[in-house]
Amino acid sequence: MNYEELMLRAITKAEKFKFTAKPNPVVGAIVFKDNEIISEGYHETYGKNHAEINAIEKAKNYLGKKFESFSELSLICTLEPCSHHGKTGSCADFIVDTGFKNIIIGAIDPNPKVAGKGIKILQDNNISVEFGLFEDLVEKQNKFFFYKHKNKKPYITIKIASSLDGKSHYNDERVFITSQSSLDDVQKIRAEYDAILTGGNTLRNDNPKMNSRVDFALNQPKKILLTNNAYSKELDFFKNASVDVFKINDLKKIINSYQNSEICSILIEAGPKLVNSFLKEGIVDELIVYSSTKKLGEKGINWFYEDNAIENYGFKLESSYKIDTDLKEIFKK
Ligand SMILES: NC(=O)c1ccc[n+]([C@@H]2O[C@H](COP(=O)([O-])OP(=O)(O)OC[C@H]3O[C@@H](n4cnc5c(N)ncnc54)[C@H](OP(=O)(O)O)[C@@H]3O)[C@@H](O)[C@H]2O)c1
Repeated sequence: MNYEELMLRAITKAEKFKFTAKPNPVVGAIVFKDNEIISEGYHETYGKNHAEINAIEKAKNYLGKKFESFSELSLICTLEPCSHHGKTGSCADFIVDTGFKNIIIGAIDPNPKVAGKGIKILQDNNISVEFGLFEDLVEKQNKFFFYKHKNKKPYITIKIASSLDGKSHYNDERVFITSQSSLDDVQKIRAEYDAILTGGNTLRNDNPKMNSRVDFALNQPKKILLTNNAYSKELDFFKNASVDVFKINDLKKIINSYQNSEICSILIEAGPKLVNSFLKEGIVDELIVYSSTKKLGEKGINWFYEDNAIENYGFKLESSYKIDTDLKEIFKK
């Protein structure tokens, strides 16, 4: 197997841990000697061992059997090994101490705490480092992580469900606008995000759980609530959840407060007031609209008050799909 094949294998197999590793990036590592893979490791769970550590610990089982010294081996890492001591130790130092002499890296870690410092540690210790192999694929695989560090803010998506006549809800009763298939699709979208944000009215009117109810393991999104009013902590929203509550209305300030956190993506699920406030601020990157064939009529509350509001906020339709009888449209800036 050549470097390209090994890197593609590590990227592909790392994908399996997309939902359990977040908000950390998914990372894969392969220890190999000539044409033989000695061991593989992945960052499987948020807060647990990094991929390189898992791969190296497994390789130790073959010391004296398949190889005599780590200096005979090479290491593939899809992302630059970390240089900082976070929840786990520095991976770059661990690699140096283990005795490797040859490392092949996919992408440089965009996190300013690392950003080349991991590579420097390796090179300063006479390790040969090649980097940039399939970096585009690694970046695509960790799109929220790269976006957050490049743009110094989390990726913001708004998801709305709209009736055929452009309404969001009734003021006096809870109504489901879209089909069960669209509701199931929303559960999968929630699973991809690091946090879900809503406003006080949606909390009080709907008592939503706003977790991701899917049939695979995941690190549940954090919840964010924006309200200046009283609320009960007994509501479903707060059950088994980590919730940040903001009592300020300055949306940019709220989003910017996540710049130095691990949160790389936020999904907003709120009513027209908060959704339009966010859109006016110009800090939204993506808008997902589920439209049904059902009309809510005059009693229904409008999502927007002008024609072409989505386009006027600067969005362009990127893709659209049929889900059951609903239409799912994705708009981006
Ligand atoms: N169709 C859908 O996709 C969908 C999705 C979610 C919700 N909904 C519906 O939306 C209804 C509520 O909609 P809504 O428009 O009245 O409320 P909303 O957008 O859910 O929440 C508005 C509330 O957010 C808080 N807030 C904090 N900063 C704000 C800011 N800068 N701008 C605006 N709000 C800010 C305030 O809470 P406080 O008043 O507590 O201070 C405000 O009253 C619910 O009944 C629900 O059924 C529909």
